[in-house]
Amino acid sequence: MLLSSLQRFTVFLSTQVRRLGTGLGNWLVGSPRLKAWFYPPLKVETPAERYRQFNEYYFADLHEQERMLGDEPRMAFYHTAINRHVKPGQRVIDLGTGTGILATYASRCGASQVYAIDHSTIIEHAKELAAENGVENVQFEDVHSTKFHLDEPVDVILHEQIGDFLFDEAMVPNVCDLRDRVLKKGGLILPSQFELFCEPVTLDDDRRIPYIWELTDVHGVDFSSMDRSRPQNPEYYRLASCDLGLVKHFVGDPEPLVKVDLYTIEEDTLPLTVTFTREVKRPGIIDGLAVFMKAKVDDDLVLSSSPIDPGRAPHWGFRILRLDQWRAELGETWEVSLTVKDWADPDTWTWTCENITGV
Ligand SMILES: C[S@@+](CC[C@H](N)C(=O)[O-])C[C@H]1O[C@@H](n2cnc3c(N)ncnc32)[C@H](O)[C@@H]1O
Repeated sequence: MLLSSLQRFTVFLSTQVRRLGTGLGNWLVGSPRLKAWFYPPLKVETPAERYRQFNEYYFADLHEQERMLGDEPRMAFYHTAINRHVKPGQRVIDLGTGTGILATYASRCGASQVYAIDHSTIIEHAKELAAENGVENVQFEDVHSTKFHLDEPVDVILHEQIGDFLFDEAMVPNVCDLRDRVLKKGGLILPSQFELFCEPVTLDDDRRIPYIWELTDVHGVDFSSMDRSRPQNPEYYRLASCDLGLVKHFVGDPEPLVKVDLYTIEEDTLPLTVTFTREVKRPGIIDGLAVFMKAKVDDDLVLSSSPIDPGRAPHWGFRILRLDQWRAELGETWEVSLTVKDWADPDTWTWTCENITGV
């Protein structure tokens, strides 16, 4: 007690010292021991912690929830998956319950107990909605999933933590953590199979926006000198869209860049560099690499965010990793390489796409 009051006092004192300027601060804290008291180590937030705070705040917004609930292919996918695979009497976790919708579907399949977990204040609405809809056997847990504990393991983990870049809503660490701690051996993760794509793409001729340094003749004005001012912020090199009219075609035939099996994956087993080639089947300018995902429950039950898939789930944006505009001709071979420091953080992704025909 005495120690904690003393520490609080020194934190207060060090704040005042810092206000007076570093010079005086340095003089006062010349001794390394005193320094530790005056400058207690500042709490360093990891990117994962920062994302967690953002996620909590983001999903409290009703508009985010209604975008997801109004996405008919998404809802049909989850409704069918749960009706097919959750059996009466099973114990279920709904990781990130939001408005409680997946927990409700599981309860209506006869689950004996559903633990509906969410760290966002949206869970207060979920509780009310469950009461209004007469939903039974659902226990709401207002907690981050890593802090959720159970004595008896569950049969099923339900989740929807799918980001536009597949990994950017922390699906892998969150599901793996619950899988390893509270899922029965042989238990079910729904969904468990994912594919991430990163396909060379040609945009619609009227919709393309070249890099500013590629604009050499805007009615007689040349912007090519802007090449010297290439922005350093990663967002500049990405586009986000839900607009299917933007993409004209994929240059080659799409294949997944990475396949994820949530039963076996470990957070650090994903490769940090992936290289692949595409034979050009549809010639045109390569405007970028379209990033999208597919989630598979059964052969006939697949959820897609592909920009050329008419049945795609509309609320997910597809992303385009921009490229300098090169024309690809029929039959050529192009090599794409993606390097990431952290799959969950697209700011750490870098990519290249080059013609290796005849090399
Ligand atoms: C994409 S929304 C899905 C909501 C709902 N399951 C649905 O399908 O409509 C993800 C939800 O998970 C919550 N969430 C994300 N990570 C979480 C975590 N590790 N622990 C608890 N809640 C989490 C968010 O607050 C958000 O409500």
